[in-house]
Amino acid sequence: MTGVGAYLPEKILTNDELSQFVDTDDNWIRQRTGIVSRRKASSDELTSDLAVKAANQALRSAGVTITDIDCIILATTTPDYTFPSTATIVQQKLGAENAFAFDVQAVCAGFVYALTVANGLMCSGQGKTALVIGAETFTKLLDWKDRSTCVLFGDGAGAVVLQTDNSNKGFGILANKLYSDGRYRDILYVDGGVSTTGTVGHVKMKGRDVFKHAVEKLADAMDEVLKLAKLTSSDIDWLVPHQANIRIINAMQKKLNLPDEKVIKTVSAHANTSAASIPLALNYGVTSGKIKSGHLLALEAIGGGLSWGASLVRYGRPD
Ligand code: ACO
Repeated sequence: MTGVGAYLPEKILTNDELSQFVDTDDNWIRQRTGIVSRRKASSDELTSDLAVKAANQALRSAGVTITDIDCIILATTTPDYTFPSTATIVQQKLGAENAFAFDVQAVCAGFVYALTVANGLMCSGQGKTALVIGAETFTKLLDWKDRSTCVLFGDGAGAVVLQTDNSNKGFGILANKLYSDGRYRDILYVDGGVSTTGTVGHVKMKGRDVFKHAVEKLADAMDEVLKLAKLTSSDIDWLVPHQANIRIINAMQKKLNLPDEKVIKTVSAHANTSAASIPLALNYGVTSGKIKSGHLLALEAIGGGLSWGASLVRYGRPD
Protein backbone atom coordinates (compact mmCIF):
# COMPACT_ATOMS: atom_id res chain seq x y z
CA MET A 1 0.00 0.00 0.00
CA THR A 2 2.12 2.83 -1.35
CA GLY A 3 -0.20 5.84 -1.42
CA VAL A 4 -3.37 7.26 0.11
CA GLY A 5 -5.76 10.07 -0.72
CA ALA A 6 -9.09 11.43 0.45
CA TYR A 7 -11.74 13.97 -0.30
CA LEU A 8 -14.50 15.45 1.86
CA PRO A 9 -17.33 17.62 0.49
CA GLU A 10 -17.14 21.26 1.58
CA LYS A 11 -20.43 21.45 3.46
CA ILE A 12 -20.01 20.73 7.19
CA LEU A 13 -23.24 19.73 8.93
CA THR A 14 -22.96 20.08 12.70
CA ASN A 15 -25.04 18.36 15.37
CA ASP A 16 -26.54 21.75 16.27
CA GLU A 17 -27.67 22.31 12.68
CA LEU A 18 -29.28 18.85 12.66
CA SER A 19 -31.15 19.61 15.86
CA GLN A 20 -32.87 22.50 14.08
CA PHE A 21 -34.88 20.12 11.87
CA VAL A 22 -34.98 16.79 13.73
CA ASP A 23 -35.69 16.01 17.40
CA THR A 24 -32.12 15.49 18.65
CA ASP A 25 -29.35 17.40 20.38
CA ASP A 26 -25.58 17.76 20.29
CA ASN A 27 -25.16 16.18 23.71
CA TRP A 28 -27.05 12.96 22.80
CA ILE A 29 -25.17 12.51 19.53
CA ARG A 30 -21.75 13.15 21.11
CA GLN A 31 -22.35 10.88 24.09
CA ARG A 32 -23.85 7.95 22.16
CA THR A 33 -21.67 8.11 19.04
CA GLY A 34 -18.73 10.53 19.43
CA ILE A 35 -19.90 12.38 16.31
CA VAL A 36 -19.64 16.18 16.30
CA SER A 37 -20.10 16.94 12.61
CA ARG A 38 -20.24 15.28 9.22
CA ARG A 39 -19.78 16.37 5.58
CA LYS A 40 -22.68 16.53 3.15
CA ALA A 41 -22.34 16.36 -0.63
CA SER A 42 -24.36 18.87 -2.64
CA SER A 43 -27.17 17.57 -4.85
CA ASP A 44 -25.02 17.76 -7.99
CA GLU A 45 -21.94 16.21 -6.33
CA LEU A 46 -21.77 12.53 -7.29
CA THR A 47 -20.04 9.61 -5.61
CA SER A 48 -17.74 9.40 -8.66
CA ASP A 49 -16.74 13.08 -8.21
CA LEU A 50 -15.63 12.40 -4.64
CA ALA A 51 -13.86 9.20 -5.71
CA VAL A 52 -11.91 10.92 -8.50
CA LYS A 53 -10.59 13.60 -6.13
CA ALA A 54 -9.48 11.00 -3.58
CA ALA A 55 -7.94 8.83 -6.31
CA ASN A 56 -5.91 11.69 -7.80
CA GLN A 57 -4.44 12.41 -4.38
CA ALA A 58 -3.61 8.72 -3.86
CA LEU A 59 -1.82 8.58 -7.24
CA ARG A 60 0.30 11.61 -6.27
CA SER A 61 1.01 10.11 -2.84
CA ALA A 62 2.22 6.83 -4.41
CA GLY A 63 4.16 8.60 -7.19
CA VAL A 64 2.41 6.69 -9.96
CA THR A 65 0.61 7.99 -13.05
CA ILE A 66 -2.88 7.08 -14.18
CA THR A 67 -1.60 4.93 -17.08
CA ASP A 68 0.17 2.71 -14.50
CA ILE A 69 -3.21 1.65 -13.05
CA ASP A 70 -4.26 -1.87 -14.11
CA CYS A 71 -7.35 -2.17 -11.93
CA ILE A 72 -9.87 0.10 -10.19
CA ILE A 73 -12.08 -1.40 -7.49
CA LEU A 74 -14.58 0.96 -5.94
CA ALA A 75 -16.49 0.08 -2.78
CA THR A 76 -19.79 1.93 -2.55
CA THR A 77 -23.44 1.54 -1.58
CA THR A 78 -24.37 4.87 -3.13
CA PRO A 79 -23.47 4.46 -6.82
CA ASP A 80 -24.07 7.24 -9.36
CA TYR A 81 -26.37 4.94 -11.35
CA THR A 82 -27.81 1.43 -11.06
CA PHE A 83 -25.41 0.67 -13.89
CA PRO A 84 -22.76 1.06 -15.21
CA SER A 85 -20.56 0.66 -12.17
CA THR A 86 -19.33 3.86 -10.57
CA ALA A 87 -15.82 2.41 -10.98
CA THR A 88 -16.09 2.63 -14.77
CA ILE A 89 -17.31 6.24 -14.50
CA VAL A 90 -14.27 6.96 -12.31
CA GLN A 91 -12.06 5.17 -14.86
CA GLN A 92 -13.36 7.45 -17.62
CA LYS A 93 -13.04 10.62 -15.51
CA LEU A 94 -9.46 9.71 -14.53
CA GLY A 95 -8.51 8.59 -18.06
CA ALA A 96 -7.33 5.22 -16.71
CA GLU A 97 -7.20 3.66 -20.15
CA ASN A 98 -5.24 0.56 -19.08
CA ALA A 99 -7.48 -0.40 -16.16
CA PHE A 100 -10.43 -2.75 -15.77
CA ALA A 101 -12.90 -1.42 -13.23
CA PHE A 102 -15.81 -2.65 -11.13
CA ASP A 103 -17.73 -1.92 -7.92
CA VAL A 104 -17.91 -3.92 -4.71
CA GLN A 105 -21.01 -3.64 -2.53
CA ALA A 106 -20.57 -4.69 1.10
CA VAL A 107 -21.89 -1.50 2.74
CA CYS A 108 -19.65 -0.39 5.64
CA ALA A 109 -17.39 -3.43 5.18
CA GLY A 110 -16.89 -2.49 1.51
CA PHE A 111 -13.33 -1.23 1.78
CA VAL A 112 -12.04 -4.37 3.51
CA TYR A 113 -13.86 -6.48 0.88
CA ALA A 114 -12.41 -4.40 -1.99
CA LEU A 115 -8.90 -4.64 -0.55
CA THR A 116 -9.21 -8.42 -0.26
CA VAL A 117 -10.50 -8.74 -3.83
CA ALA A 118 -7.70 -6.49 -5.15
CA ASN A 119 -5.09 -8.54 -3.30
CA GLY A 120 -6.48 -11.78 -4.75
CA LEU A 121 -6.51 -10.39 -8.30
CA MET A 122 -2.97 -9.04 -8.03
CA CYS A 123 -1.68 -12.30 -6.55
CA SER A 124 -3.23 -14.16 -9.50
CA GLY A 125 -1.45 -11.94 -12.01
CA GLN A 126 -4.37 -9.65 -12.98
CA GLY A 127 -2.35 -6.46 -12.52
CA LYS A 128 0.63 -4.87 -10.82
CA THR A 129 -0.89 -1.56 -9.71
CA ALA A 130 -4.41 -1.13 -8.36
CA LEU A 131 -6.54 1.75 -7.15
CA VAL A 132 -8.87 0.72 -4.33
CA ILE A 133 -11.44 3.37 -3.49
CA GLY A 134 -14.19 3.71 -0.88
CA ALA A 135 -16.61 6.49 -1.84
CA GLU A 136 -20.07 7.36 -0.57
CA THR A 137 -22.75 10.00 -0.77
CA PHE A 138 -24.53 8.22 2.06
CA THR A 139 -26.55 11.27 3.13
CA LYS A 140 -28.59 10.77 -0.07
CA LEU A 141 -29.91 7.48 1.41
CA LEU A 142 -31.14 9.02 4.65
CA ASP A 143 -34.61 9.81 5.91
CA TRP A 144 -33.97 13.21 7.50
CA LYS A 145 -37.03 12.74 9.73
CA ASP A 146 -35.60 9.57 11.31
CA ARG A 147 -33.38 10.72 14.17
CA SER A 148 -32.20 7.19 14.87
CA THR A 149 -30.27 7.09 11.57
CA CYS A 150 -29.88 10.56 10.05
CA VAL A 151 -27.47 11.79 12.74
CA LEU A 152 -25.04 8.92 12.16
CA PHE A 153 -23.82 9.19 8.57
CA GLY A 154 -21.75 11.44 6.35
CA ASP A 155 -20.21 11.67 2.87
CA GLY A 156 -16.64 11.35 1.64
CA ALA A 157 -14.11 9.28 -0.26
CA GLY A 158 -10.74 7.71 0.37
CA ALA A 159 -8.40 5.80 -1.92
CA VAL A 160 -5.23 3.73 -1.76
CA VAL A 161 -2.73 2.57 -4.38
CA LEU A 162 -1.56 -1.04 -4.16
CA GLN A 163 1.61 -2.12 -5.96
CA THR A 164 3.07 -5.61 -6.22
CA ASP A 165 6.20 -6.07 -4.15
CA ASN A 166 8.75 -8.73 -4.90
CA SER A 167 11.20 -7.70 -2.18
CA ASN A 168 10.02 -10.32 0.33
CA LYS A 169 10.38 -7.73 3.10
CA GLY A 170 6.89 -8.28 4.42
CA PHE A 171 5.20 -5.16 2.98
CA GLY A 172 1.63 -5.01 1.73
CA ILE A 173 -1.45 -7.03 2.62
CA LEU A 174 -0.44 -9.74 5.08
CA ALA A 175 -3.83 -11.30 5.88
CA ASN A 176 -7.52 -10.83 5.20
CA LYS A 177 -10.67 -12.48 6.50
CA LEU A 178 -14.20 -11.81 5.27
CA TYR A 179 -17.52 -12.91 6.78
CA SER A 180 -21.25 -12.52 6.05
CA ASP A 181 -24.45 -13.60 7.77
CA GLY A 182 -27.60 -12.82 5.79
CA ARG A 183 -29.83 -13.93 8.65
CA TYR A 184 -29.29 -10.45 10.13
CA ARG A 185 -30.43 -8.59 7.01
CA ASP A 186 -33.32 -6.90 8.82
CA ILE A 187 -31.25 -5.12 11.48
CA LEU A 188 -29.57 -2.86 8.91
CA TYR A 189 -30.96 -2.35 5.41
CA VAL A 190 -32.44 0.05 2.87
CA ASP A 191 -36.19 -0.24 2.25
CA GLY A 192 -35.98 0.12 -1.51
CA GLY A 193 -34.30 -1.35 -4.56
CA VAL A 194 -34.49 -2.02 -8.28
CA SER A 195 -36.33 -5.35 -8.17
CA THR A 196 -38.42 -4.68 -5.06
CA THR A 197 -39.88 -1.19 -4.91
CA GLY A 198 -38.25 0.40 -7.92
CA THR A 199 -37.11 3.20 -5.63
CA VAL A 200 -33.84 4.03 -3.90
CA GLY A 201 -35.24 3.78 -0.38
CA HIS A 202 -33.93 4.92 3.00
CA VAL A 203 -31.62 3.43 5.63
CA LYS A 204 -33.34 1.48 8.42
CA MET A 205 -31.38 0.25 11.42
CA LYS A 206 -31.90 -1.45 14.75
CA GLY A 207 -28.86 0.31 16.18
CA ARG A 208 -28.72 -1.53 19.48
CA ASP A 209 -28.73 -4.93 17.71
CA VAL A 210 -26.00 -3.88 15.28
CA PHE A 211 -23.95 -2.59 18.20
CA LYS A 212 -24.18 -5.95 19.98
CA HIS A 213 -22.87 -7.87 16.95
CA ALA A 214 -20.18 -5.32 16.09
CA VAL A 215 -17.67 -5.69 18.90
CA GLU A 216 -17.87 -9.47 19.18
CA LYS A 217 -17.64 -10.14 15.42
CA LEU A 218 -14.90 -7.57 14.80
CA ALA A 219 -12.82 -8.88 17.69
CA ASP A 220 -13.10 -12.45 16.33
CA ALA A 221 -12.17 -11.28 12.81
CA MET A 222 -9.12 -9.45 14.18
CA ASP A 223 -8.02 -12.51 16.16
CA GLU A 224 -8.30 -14.56 12.98
CA VAL A 225 -6.14 -12.27 10.79
CA LEU A 226 -3.51 -12.00 13.54
CA LYS A 227 -3.43 -15.80 13.69
CA LEU A 228 -3.18 -16.07 9.87
CA ALA A 229 -0.23 -13.63 9.85
CA LYS A 230 1.36 -15.26 12.91
CA LEU A 231 1.32 -11.94 14.77
CA THR A 232 -0.21 -10.68 18.02
CA SER A 233 -2.01 -7.47 18.89
CA SER A 234 1.22 -6.09 20.41
CA ASP A 235 2.66 -6.06 16.85
CA ILE A 236 -0.03 -3.61 15.67
CA ASP A 237 1.26 -0.06 15.14
CA TRP A 238 -2.14 1.40 14.26
CA LEU A 239 -5.70 0.16 14.55
CA VAL A 240 -7.55 1.89 11.69
CA PRO A 241 -11.15 0.84 12.37
CA HIS A 242 -14.39 1.57 10.55
CA GLN A 243 -15.63 4.84 12.05
CA ALA A 244 -19.25 4.16 13.01
CA ASN A 245 -19.34 4.86 16.72
CA ILE A 246 -16.62 5.87 19.19
CA ARG A 247 -17.95 3.34 21.71
CA ILE A 248 -17.40 0.45 19.26
CA ILE A 249 -13.91 1.76 18.47
CA ASN A 250 -13.05 2.11 22.17
CA ALA A 251 -14.32 -1.40 22.89
CA MET A 252 -12.12 -2.83 20.10
CA GLN A 253 -9.16 -0.83 21.41
CA LYS A 254 -9.72 -2.35 24.84
CA LYS A 255 -10.05 -5.91 23.48
CA LEU A 256 -6.77 -5.51 21.60
CA ASN A 257 -5.16 -3.82 24.62
CA LEU A 258 -3.95 -0.87 22.55
CA PRO A 259 -3.18 2.60 23.95
CA ASP A 260 -4.81 5.76 22.49
CA GLU A 261 -1.55 6.47 20.65
CA LYS A 262 -2.18 3.42 18.43
CA VAL A 263 -5.76 4.04 17.30
CA ILE A 264 -6.89 6.35 14.48
CA LYS A 265 -10.17 8.06 15.40
CA THR A 266 -11.89 10.32 12.89
CA VAL A 267 -15.55 9.59 13.67
CA SER A 268 -16.01 12.96 15.44
CA ALA A 269 -15.44 14.94 12.23
CA HIS A 270 -16.48 12.41 9.55
CA ALA A 271 -19.34 10.42 11.16
CA ASN A 272 -20.02 7.05 9.50
CA THR A 273 -19.04 7.34 5.84
CA SER A 274 -19.62 3.61 5.21
CA ALA A 275 -17.07 2.22 2.69
CA ALA A 276 -15.13 5.49 2.72
CA SER A 277 -14.46 5.54 6.44
CA ILE A 278 -11.31 3.36 6.60
CA PRO A 279 -9.48 5.02 3.69
CA LEU A 280 -10.47 8.46 5.05
CA ALA A 281 -9.00 7.44 8.42
CA LEU A 282 -5.92 6.01 6.69
CA ASN A 283 -5.40 9.28 4.84
CA TYR A 284 -5.68 11.23 8.09
CA GLY A 285 -3.17 8.86 9.74
CA VAL A 286 -0.63 9.22 6.94
CA THR A 287 -0.97 12.96 6.29
CA SER A 288 -0.80 13.76 10.02
CA GLY A 289 2.52 11.88 10.20
CA LYS A 290 1.21 9.19 12.54
CA ILE A 291 1.32 6.27 10.07
CA LYS A 292 4.77 5.78 8.58
CA SER A 293 6.24 3.38 6.03
CA GLY A 294 6.79 -0.01 7.65
CA HIS A 295 3.96 0.36 10.19
CA LEU A 296 1.60 -2.58 10.72
CA LEU A 297 -2.02 -1.48 10.25
CA ALA A 298 -5.04 -3.42 11.51
CA LEU A 299 -8.23 -2.61 9.56
CA GLU A 300 -11.71 -3.83 10.48
CA ALA A 301 -15.30 -3.04 9.54
CA ILE A 302 -18.87 -4.30 9.86
CA GLY A 303 -22.02 -3.23 8.06
CA GLY A 304 -25.27 -4.22 6.43
CA GLY A 305 -25.69 -7.88 5.50
CA LEU A 306 -24.35 -8.40 8.03
CA SER A 307 -20.96 -8.27 6.29
CA TRP A 308 -17.70 -7.83 8.11
CA GLY A 309 -14.00 -8.46 7.90
CA ALA A 310 -10.47 -7.51 8.87
CA SER A 311 -7.12 -6.97 7.16
CA LEU A 312 -3.52 -6.63 8.28
CA VAL A 313 -1.36 -4.38 6.12
CA ARG A 314 2.30 -3.36 6.32
CA TYR A 315 2.04 0.20 4.95
CA GLY A 316 4.49 1.83 2.56
CA ARG A 317 7.34 0.35 0.58
CA PRO A 318 10.77 -1.09 1.33
CA ASP A 319 13.60 1.52 1.21
N1 ACO B 1 -31.33 12.02 19.42
C1 ACO B 1 -31.92 11.88 20.62
N2 ACO B 1 -32.45 10.73 21.04
C2 ACO B 1 -32.36 9.67 20.22
C3 ACO B 1 -31.78 9.74 18.96
C4 ACO B 1 -31.25 10.98 18.56
N3 ACO B 1 -30.63 11.16 17.37
N4 ACO B 1 -31.84 8.52 18.38
C5 ACO B 1 -32.46 7.70 19.25
N5 ACO B 1 -32.78 8.39 20.36
C6 ACO B 1 -33.46 7.88 21.56
C7 ACO B 1 -34.28 6.64 21.30
O1 ACO B 1 -35.56 6.99 20.83
C8 ACO B 1 -34.31 6.01 22.68
O2 ACO B 1 -35.29 6.67 23.46
P1 ACO B 1 -36.22 5.81 24.47
O3 ACO B 1 -35.24 5.20 25.44
O4 ACO B 1 -37.11 6.87 25.05
O5 ACO B 1 -36.90 4.79 23.61
C9 ACO B 1 -32.95 6.36 23.28
O6 ACO B 1 -32.45 7.47 22.50
C10 ACO B 1 -31.94 5.23 23.22
O7 ACO B 1 -31.93 4.68 21.91
P2 ACO B 1 -31.00 3.49 21.53
O8 ACO B 1 -31.17 3.16 20.07
O9 ACO B 1 -31.17 2.37 22.50
O10 ACO B 1 -29.55 4.15 21.78
P3 ACO B 1 -28.12 3.51 21.72
O11 ACO B 1 -27.38 3.85 22.93
O12 ACO B 1 -28.15 2.06 21.29
O13 ACO B 1 -27.42 4.32 20.56
C11 ACO B 1 -26.78 4.07 18.25
C12 ACO B 1 -27.94 4.28 19.23
C13 ACO B 1 -25.88 5.27 18.30
C14 ACO B 1 -27.38 3.95 16.84
C15 ACO B 1 -25.98 2.81 18.59
O14 ACO B 1 -26.85 1.74 18.86
C16 ACO B 1 -25.02 2.40 17.49
O15 ACO B 1 -24.06 3.06 17.21
N6 ACO B 1 -25.23 1.22 16.89
C17 ACO B 1 -24.30 0.68 15.90
C18 ACO B 1 -24.49 1.34 14.58
C19 ACO B 1 -23.40 0.87 13.65
O16 ACO B 1 -22.30 0.50 14.03
N7 ACO B 1 -23.63 0.83 12.38
C20 ACO B 1 -22.51 0.34 11.55
C21 ACO B 1 -22.91 -0.15 10.38
S1 ACO B 1 -23.72 1.06 9.42
C22 ACO B 1 -23.86 0.42 7.83
O17 ACO B 1 -23.47 -0.66 7.54
C23 ACO B 1 -24.56 1.26 6.79
